[in-house]
Amino acid sequence: MSNHYEQQGFTLWFTGLSGAGKTTVATALEKELRARGLKVERLDGDTVRKSLTRDLGFSKEDRDKNIERVTFVAKLLSRNGVAVLAAFISPYRATRAMVRAETTNFIEVYVHAPLEVCAQRDVKGLYAKAFAGEIPDFTGVSDPYEEPENPEIVLHTHLETVEESVAKCLTYLEEHGFIPVAETAR
Ligand code: ADX
Repeated sequence: MSNHYEQQGFTLWFTGLSGAGKTTVATALEKELRARGLKVERLDGDTVRKSLTRDLGFSKEDRDKNIERVTFVAKLLSRNGVAVLAAFISPYRATRAMVRAETTNFIEVYVHAPLEVCAQRDVKGLYAKAFAGEIPDFTGVSDPYEEPENPEIVLHTHLETVEESVAKCLTYLEEHGFIPVAETAR
């Protein structure tokens, strides 16, 4: 037996409202996985929508196209041993079920914070505009968000620190053999 570690591909899929903390947790987790020497790709609505899906808006059809294209990328990466961290609102249950079916080792992470908390954080100033009626079809305000029914991981970002949320994901990945268990007492 060789002692070379062959990395397993997986798709950690962060879903939740805008401002719930998807990007924050995924970015911190990405850093930790890289520090452990793993191959990682992070796909994020905020950046992907400036390139691969820049032609799309926020109708149901466009959101589904957004997720379908990203799924194609996540599928190729995850089946080739890459740790994929995908952060998208992805508000539709049926669409997320499609991602689960298409990608390797799909793990759904529900990044939860109450709407009031997300609106109060209002990192991008979008909730203020949405409540003022300036953004039609804004998720959680004037457009649906279908909560996951059986997510593998739930993060409560209004109650946990970023480090605690990251630790939950790492523990899940270690316990399920998707990443090697880190040496303790570092
Ligand atoms: S998804 O619904 O297609 O999965 P995605 O995660 O890519 O959405 O993009 C969401 C980001 O787009 C939000 O974080 C926000 O910055 C921006 N955004 C602009 N308009 C909307 C809208 N109507 N609803 C939700 N997010 C919007």
